[in-house]
Amino acid sequence: MSAAHGSLRVGMIGHAFMGAAHSYGWRNAARVFELPVEPEMAVIAGSDAARSAAAAARLGWAQSVADWRELIERPDVDIVDICAPGDLHFPIAIAALEAGKHVLCEKPLANTADEADEMARVAEAAARRGVFAMCGFTYRRQPAVALARRTIAEGRLGQIRHIRVQYLQDWLSDPDSPYTWRLDATRSGSGALGDLGAHAVDLAQWLTASRITTLSARTQRFVPTRPLPDGSGRGEVTVDDAAFALAEFDSGLIGTFEVTRYALGRKNAFRVEIDGTLGSLAWDFERNNELNLYTEDAGELAGFATVLATRPGHPYLADWWPDGHGLGFDAGFVNQAADFIRAIAAGRQPEPSFADAAQVQRVLDAVEASQASRGWEAVSPEKEKVR
Ligand SMILES: NC(=O)c1ccc[n+]([C@@H]2O[C@H](COP(=O)([O-])OP(=O)(O)OC[C@H]3O[C@@H](n4cnc5c(N)ncnc54)[C@H](O)[C@@H]3O)[C@@H](O)[C@H]2O)c1
Repeated sequence: MSAAHGSLRVGMIGHAFMGAAHSYGWRNAARVFELPVEPEMAVIAGSDAARSAAAAARLGWAQSVADWRELIERPDVDIVDICAPGDLHFPIAIAALEAGKHVLCEKPLANTADEADEMARVAEAAARRGVFAMCGFTYRRQPAVALARRTIAEGRLGQIRHIRVQYLQDWLSDPDSPYTWRLDATRSGSGALGDLGAHAVDLAQWLTASRITTLSARTQRFVPTRPLPDGSGRGEVTVDDAAFALAEFDSGLIGTFEVTRYALGRKNAFRVEIDGTLGSLAWDFERNNELNLYTEDAGELAGFATVLATRPGHPYLADWWPDGHGLGFDAGFVNQAADFIRAIAAGRQPEPSFADAAQVQRVLDAVEASQASRGWEAVSPEKEKVR
């Protein structure tokens, strides 16, 4: 923290989709919540100096620099926020932590489990020096999702038996939609698996406070090449388009996962349904202020009820709009920024830690191993040092 400024000065790398969402979070966190220290939007970097300068002006950042290494070297940056493609997470996060900067890194944490494990180790060493790292599993910050976790933790559903998770999008359904870095395994690590599956695995494990131990999975690529944006032909798609898995958890529950970018009509349908011995709940991001809850308490009148997750007593909502006024995708990034700032100011490890996110990465690795072996795979324990 900068004593002189009484603020935590943020440097953000990548300023497109997630960069805009994180900017919204940094800009509004201290407007919505009373924070012990304010985030200050100091500087951004991207892949092109002119575009970064324009983005800084549009998104409300004081400055931009041409290269992410320059941003990390600056003494007037306390937090490095990584909103760049997956292949940059590892080098940026390691350099930032070693330079003594707190790090917020987008998901999936890295492109491989080895990289993720190493990032977790460097983060653990940094945390012992009071420098903290967190991964951006933003859906944990949606009030209805946090309410679902609280409801399960209170035992309202009894012992959890099953979880069904779907994360369905359709933006690749057209075989001629253009090539992006997301379709190149050297940049993104994997396709729907890392992009959507990482969220699905994190949320399933977080909601049920349990971890996947073994799984059987299949991945599929439907469209092998796509038009390059510069018109020079078609680029090879080197990632999966969809991934499905059946998983066993350490608590004895079983779960199914479906993630795809080809579910026509489903735009961002991140859905979770959980059944316990006393009740069930369901949530769908496309109706993100609602939690559907069934408990046996109501006897013969029992049925799924739609709980509007907007009450002041629900997670995050005491400081937001009055009951019934609803929040959106953007609010998750405000809540995330506030949680991160509060943890740093308190000298406490923010969640999810890099270790939590590295474990998710090992689950994704097991999915790919299962596709290759066509059999059941165990989620591997943390690997030995690789650097
Ligand atoms: N939490 C979520 O809900 C969520 C949603 C979408 C994406 N993501 C994650 O966020 C990350 C970024 O995804 P996105 O959708 O914002 O991608 P994007 O393509 O919209 O933006 C990528 C940004 O990275 C910058 N960049 C690329 N190469 C760079 C380099 N060498 N140096 C500096 N900057 C560089 C680009 O200029 C661009 O600003 C990914 O890890 C992705 O998985 C998370």
